[in-house]
Amino acid sequence: MGRTLRFLVVLLAALGLLAGLGYAVLARITSRWFERDLELRSSLAVEAARDSLASHWSSDRAGLTAILANIARDERIMAAAACSSHGELLAATEGYPAEFPCRSLLERMRHQAGDATSWSMASDLAAGPVQVGVTLLEGDSEPLGAVVLVHDLRFLERREETTRNILLVAFFVLALGASVVTLLAARFAWRRWNLELRRALGGEATHEFQPLLRDVRALAERLSQEREQEGRAGVWSAERLHATLTKHLHDERIVILANREPYIHDRGAEGVRVLHPASGLVTALEPVMRACSGVWVAHGSGSADRDTVDGKDRVRVPPGEEAYVLRRVWLSEAEEQGYYYGFSNEGLWPLCHLAHARPVFRAEDWEHYVRVNRKFADAVCEEVEGDDPIVLVQDYHFALAPKMIRERLPRATIIAFWHIPWPNAERFGICPWREELLAGLLGASVVGFHTRQHCNNFVDGVDAFMESRIDREATAVVQGERRTLVRPYPISIEWPVHWLSEVPPVAQARAEVRAELGLAPDALVGVGIDRLDYTKGIEERLAAVDQLLLRYPEFRGRFTFLQVAAPSRTKIERYRELNERVEALAAEIDARWSTERYHPIVLLRTHHEPTAVYRYFRAADLCYVSSLHDGMNLVAKEFVAARDDEHGVLLLSQFTGAARDLTEALIVNPYDLRQASDALAAALHMPADEQRARMRSMRRLLSEFNVYRWAGRMLVDAAELRRKERMTGRFGAGRAAWGGESA
Ligand code: G6P
Repeated sequence: MGRTLRFLVVLLAALGLLAGLGYAVLARITSRWFERDLELRSSLAVEAARDSLASHWSSDRAGLTAILANIARDERIMAAAACSSHGELLAATEGYPAEFPCRSLLERMRHQAGDATSWSMASDLAAGPVQVGVTLLEGDSEPLGAVVLVHDLRFLERREETTRNILLVAFFVLALGASVVTLLAARFAWRRWNLELRRALGGEATHEFQPLLRDVRALAERLSQEREQEGRAGVWSAERLHATLTKHLHDERIVILANREPYIHDRGAEGVRVLHPASGLVTALEPVMRACSGVWVAHGSGSADRDTVDGKDRVRVPPGEEAYVLRRVWLSEAEEQGYYYGFSNEGLWPLCHLAHARPVFRAEDWEHYVRVNRKFADAVCEEVEGDDPIVLVQDYHFALAPKMIRERLPRATIIAFWHIPWPNAERFGICPWREELLAGLLGASVVGFHTRQHCNNFVDGVDAFMESRIDREATAVVQGERRTLVRPYPISIEWPVHWLSEVPPVAQARAEVRAELGLAPDALVGVGIDRLDYTKGIEERLAAVDQLLLRYPEFRGRFTFLQVAAPSRTKIERYRELNERVEALAAEIDARWSTERYHPIVLLRTHHEPTAVYRYFRAADLCYVSSLHDGMNLVAKEFVAARDDEHGVLLLSQFTGAARDLTEALIVNPYDLRQASDALAAALHMPADEQRARMRSMRRLLSEFNVYRWAGRMLVDAAELRRKERMTGRFGAGRAAWGGESA
């Protein structure tokens, strides 16, 4: 706006200057025209009266005077006189100015106009400006003299004034028009330029691995909006998150409900050990809990979990640090089967991911899901302090818990975060318990997703299947007195990652890993690290490596892809099948390209602790994340975090939420094997300075967009909502409003 204003001021000043100059020139020209006009009128008037003037010239002075008076009847002629050729005044109308004696006029005319028969000059009288015109009058044989007409020029002043006014109005109209036209032209040109730019970028995007321009724009917009909002508060850190909690939520203790526990006590051959599960959710939330303290309520799934808790099923974690409490909830085998394997992972997981797996909905699974949600909701209510706690309910395992907690704690601030995609309404509609799921989540104060798209899908689902009002402006769902905000909060990782202090630096990690895998010290290594899940596109990834070796022979014998696949949900048939298929595919590719000393694929199907994972990231030349559909995917962000040497290339599926943040990765469609293999080749050929530029930019982004910001922003939004609700006194009616039966 400021720029437009400045531009208009300059434009108007320029136009004003031009108009001033134009007016001066125009004034000169028009006054010249008026003079000529007067001369012409003088000679015409004299010419018309020539005969009668001639007949009365020397003999009849009274007649001459009458003729002159007749000529002077023109309102613009002030006076007229007849002069003899010798300069004597023969006759004059009344009021002929004495300033213009015949003799001097004729002399001046002779002097200035030479042989011309008419001449005029301007002069000023007390009454105003005049123009004196002299026209010679010829008799039949000799010159008779001259007729002098004194023109009143005051009308000219009036005319000039009118002209000036018209010019002024014209100038303003012109200036306005010019400004509008210029602005429109500028806007049009800008849009065209944008279009050109887009086209140019679109052209580049056919150089396949560019991010979607839409995502880059959305990211830039988000960055600038958030920068503005954040002001000078600085980068989010564990300390800032804690300070936010203290400031906005008065240091309330946070209770997190998530199925997966951050620390699993497992009994092995060498006794009890602590495992860190492969879960993006845990990766993200654990640092948040360390920063905020509080309680994490989770399923106690480790074989030694029961042995390590106190009488109230609690254990302080992290071991040795004891920053917060882990409250374990025990599930029977049937409950785990129905709630976890059944409804959560055979029903909701495939329902929410576009990965060609058919969801299975069984009534008995649903019943377990309801019961287990209630069990966990009760555990949460046991852990809270006071009647208005902050509860963070995590993921698809607990869609019903927000409403169940709300029924018991109407004043609670409940934030539900859905870590996986949310399907469109049509797809979501196939779930037999769609209304119950939506009602359960709407018990939360805030429902969060990674992307705006998933928020929109959720709101569309509510619109399609629930009685409610959608406040699209505030992206909120309103049901009676209650309001649930629906917001995107893209999740991230801690920054800096605390594990990295225990991981060898890049050069050492490279050398160690190559030696361990029996590779040459200069071998090129790609890495993929996932749970063995059909949404991760592991088969497509291995097939892309196969294509690379087929289409780029220079990498045969030189490039090895290391796939770390942590076993996951192995009781589910679909996962067991995947395990077999991945194994068979890896063997097939290996058979095609391996030599005595070379293997194109190394498949490690065991759980790896975070330090081992980070060491692989540091050892690799590239990391390929090929998810077919993924809410966010934190592996991509972890790879970037590991590369403090600013080298290594990230290939990232366009179907991950992370592709919207990490736009400097090579963005690929994992189904397009030709494109993916080209991207692998491009990564392996990428010059070091390009790698550095891309990696540096992604690292800068992650250092700001870290998980403390994710949690902080949700908490700030929740706190604001809480303040508003308290102000409107809504809590009075809360318990009654939430007294109904839940699913
Ligand atoms: C995804 C889910 C998490 C889950 C993780 C591991 O990231 O969003 O909620 O913890 O997968 O799956 P698991 O079933 O082993 O917990």
